[in-house]
Amino acid sequence: MSISRRTVVASGLAATGAVTLAACASEPEPAETTPPSATVDEAPEELSGEILLGSTAEVMVGSGTKFMVDESLTILVTQPREGVFRAFSAKCTHAGCIVNGIRDDEIACGCHGARFSPDTGEPVAGPANSPLGKIQLEVRGSDLYALI
Ligand code: FES
Repeated sequence: MSISRRTVVASGLAATGAVTLAACASEPEPAETTPPSATVDEAPEELSGEILLGSTAEVMVGSGTKFMVDESLTILVTQPREGVFRAFSAKCTHAGCIVNGIRDDEIACGCHGARFSPDTGEPVAGPANSPLGKIQLEVRGSDLYALI
């Protein structure tokens, strides 16, 4: 089943892994947005469009929350400073583990100890040499949308 060019609602996927399609998405003005960047390479082509990940209330300042979009894509949303949200592929660029989340103000991968900046996704320690894949994010009201 192809779901390209549709809005994908991923709310609650961290627990279920399910994807629900929304026929129409309202288009409110975006708020704080991740700077334009290349989308993550591993995002499956059939998963394109807008993905409603969840609410800003799920991502505390200085923390990060993972949203499982499907079996091949988990997105980590961080809030490094109040009102500033970033989104990255949660797949570690060292050997592909899913990062654990934020630990001591850094994105931590538990497999071999890599650490990444929660603001830029750049590696700051450990064996990873490449940044986490950036994902364009829009905040609309209290909703977090990934654009892939
Ligand atoms: S897979 Fe993340 S540090 Fe090795």
